[in-house]
Amino acid sequence: MKVAVLGAAGGIGQALSLLLKTQLPAGSDLALFDIAPVTPGVAVDLSHIPTAVTVKGYGQEGLKDALAGADVVLIPAGVPRKPGMDRSDLFNMNAGIIKNLIENIADTCPKALVGIITNPVNTTVAIAAEVLKKKGVYDKNRLFGVTTLDVIRAETFVGELKGKNPEDLHVPVIGGHSGTTILPLLSQVKGVEFSQDEIESLTHRIQNAGTEVVEAKAGGGSATLSMGQAAARFCFSLVKGLQGENVTEYAYVEGDGSDATYFAQAVRLGKNGIEEILPYGTLSAFEEKAKNDMLDGLKKDIQMGIDFANQ
Ligand code: NAI
Repeated sequence: MKVAVLGAAGGIGQALSLLLKTQLPAGSDLALFDIAPVTPGVAVDLSHIPTAVTVKGYGQEGLKDALAGADVVLIPAGVPRKPGMDRSDLFNMNAGIIKNLIENIADTCPKALVGIITNPVNTTVAIAAEVLKKKGVYDKNRLFGVTTLDVIRAETFVGELKGKNPEDLHVPVIGGHSGTTILPLLSQVKGVEFSQDEIESLTHRIQNAGTEVVEAKAGGGSATLSMGQAAARFCFSLVKGLQGENVTEYAYVEGDGSDATYFAQAVRLGKNGIEEILPYGTLSAFEEKAKNDMLDGLKKDIQMGIDFANQ
């Protein structure tokens, strides 16, 4: 198994690469690409950890070599938020970065499973899909917006509120990955009851959890450590799927389009990426309204990506 991390020297990239170096299956190759000059050093540093995972670092000119033969590519390359910024404020910086990286993936490892972490995810996934379509290699079962952080946050916050071990909880989170497009389905959490006040405040906290970190870091960036953990969990699930195991994760993917072209939902993973999109079941009246209220915004985010890629 070869996993490539693009943006590997950043806050997320380094945390993620550490978890991959220590936890990928023995015999895996880890390719670290970033334009930052420190990248070869990050790879040397990680290479001193005694696991049977080979690490190599690639700078500016090494993108094609980093991608060659990759089974999974994870992309946290780009600029993170500062206080007062919305994820959409990152569009101008990050759209071009994603376009360029995906063009290289299309040319070098078009069959790889690609997980996009770079914000605004609602839009960057649409850009990636359009670029892959133009190159004639788009497979909707192989492209993912990574929304795992929304799920682990939701599980943590529900555990905190209800005095439960978050590892025993399962909280579906559907929709998109910004503000009100993040829709936790608290009505489907088993073994806990919520008052209407709790539902409203928890939903709001999960939707704004990223901003909680951005403000606490006071200009030093956004979530990196929890995102590293979330991306690693998502990557291990992709790898397990490729190895023939049945695994379910939530991700922002192209589904049947009944809500929006791209929509975060549960997917069953396997040897070809997505094997099946799982229905999200019945929503409460509160969730149904929240979904209907946010769909226009999500569709606009998606259209922005389509327009950018085709301009
Ligand atoms: P960072 O600034 O610490 O790291 C970004 C890295 O990307 C830097 O090392 C930079 O050199 C690199 N980079 C920039 N342009 C590149 C290019 N063309 N090719 C390769 N590497 C390039 O930022 P951080 O905190 O790691 O965040 C990265 C992205 O992840 C941001 O867009 C952020 O908004 C997003 N994010 C997504 C989350 C999610 O849930 N999907 C959660 C948190 C952040």
